[in-house]
Amino acid sequence: MGELKVEKHIRYILSVEKKKDGFESVIMEHIRLNGAYWGLTTLDLLGKLDVADTEEVVTWIMKCQHESGGFGGNVGHDPHLLYTLSAIQVLALFDRVNILDVDKISNYIASLQNEDGSFSGDIWGEVDTRFSYIAICSLALLHRMDKINVGKAVEYIVSCKNLDGGFGCTPGAESHAGQIFCCVAALAITGSLHHIDKDLLGWWLCERQVKSGGLNGRPEKLPDVCYSWWVLSSLIMIDRVHWIDKEKLKNYILDCQDKENGGISDRPDDAVDVFHTFFGVAGLSFLEYPGVKAIDPAYALPIDVVNRIFL
Ligand code: FPP
Ligand code: ZN
Repeated sequence: MGELKVEKHIRYILSVEKKKDGFESVIMEHIRLNGAYWGLTTLDLLGKLDVADTEEVVTWIMKCQHESGGFGGNVGHDPHLLYTLSAIQVLALFDRVNILDVDKISNYIASLQNEDGSFSGDIWGEVDTRFSYIAICSLALLHRMDKINVGKAVEYIVSCKNLDGGFGCTPGAESHAGQIFCCVAALAITGSLHHIDKDLLGWWLCERQVKSGGLNGRPEKLPDVCYSWWVLSSLIMIDRVHWIDKEKLKNYILDCQDKENGGISDRPDDAVDVFHTFFGVAGLSFLEYPGVKAIDPAYALPIDVVNRIFL
């Protein structure tokens, strides 16, 4: 357990970025823009964003943009809402959102809203509440929420609410902590949290904490560090975070560190990756771990970055 190995995690993130032909980088190739968001946000939370080369990152991100306005996961890859949000988030970290053609991107995002208010992730049409969140979060960061039908978007998200208080990816789909984050954050951003039964959902979410102190994403599943984000962020947004044992969760996350080489894994002694390193550090941020910057639960960006955009 012990303490957060800040220097080792910073070195780990930088090493993944440099090792472009390594195993992790090869499987991450198609999601590199997501990887950049996880890695760079972690560096910022640890107060070390200055080790990144801003111009190199910004130039590469802009090469991932398509004529349609959407971004691909890497240069030459097809555009998708997932990478479009990551591009906006990374530019926000570097205070460079102003280089974007905001109308072009927001028209791309708005073009993916369907009749029933839901969103498709790309032109191929898969519908999921993840895409509702991504569209709403992206447009809010660009100050262009007026481009979509917000009322219908909210109506669709509410139609994905289950009797247990949680949310699924489509109407009738089982509650899942990842989808709950997406729906709660989208409702928070649009000022629609009154659609949630906070006690019922808070109960379902705090039931996710298992004996080891870690959180799972659904009943009967193993704990996983990334749910420190999906579950805690949701509990914070509905003001029920005091219902979990914070000390036990902190120790679980610290237990998942690779204390030799840096990085955080899903469970103790598993292989580390940038995704779980980000969500582990973000979880510790929610738990007010000393030396970790505060993160915003809805926008998934450091609070000082969010304040720069909205204040
Ligand atoms: C669990 O995935 C997580 C989700 C379903 C939510 C994903 C949300 C986004 C991609 C939106 C962007 C997020 C941020 C933080 C900006 P999983 O496939 O690991 O689930 P499993 O544990 O059931 O396998
Ligand atoms: Zn995970």
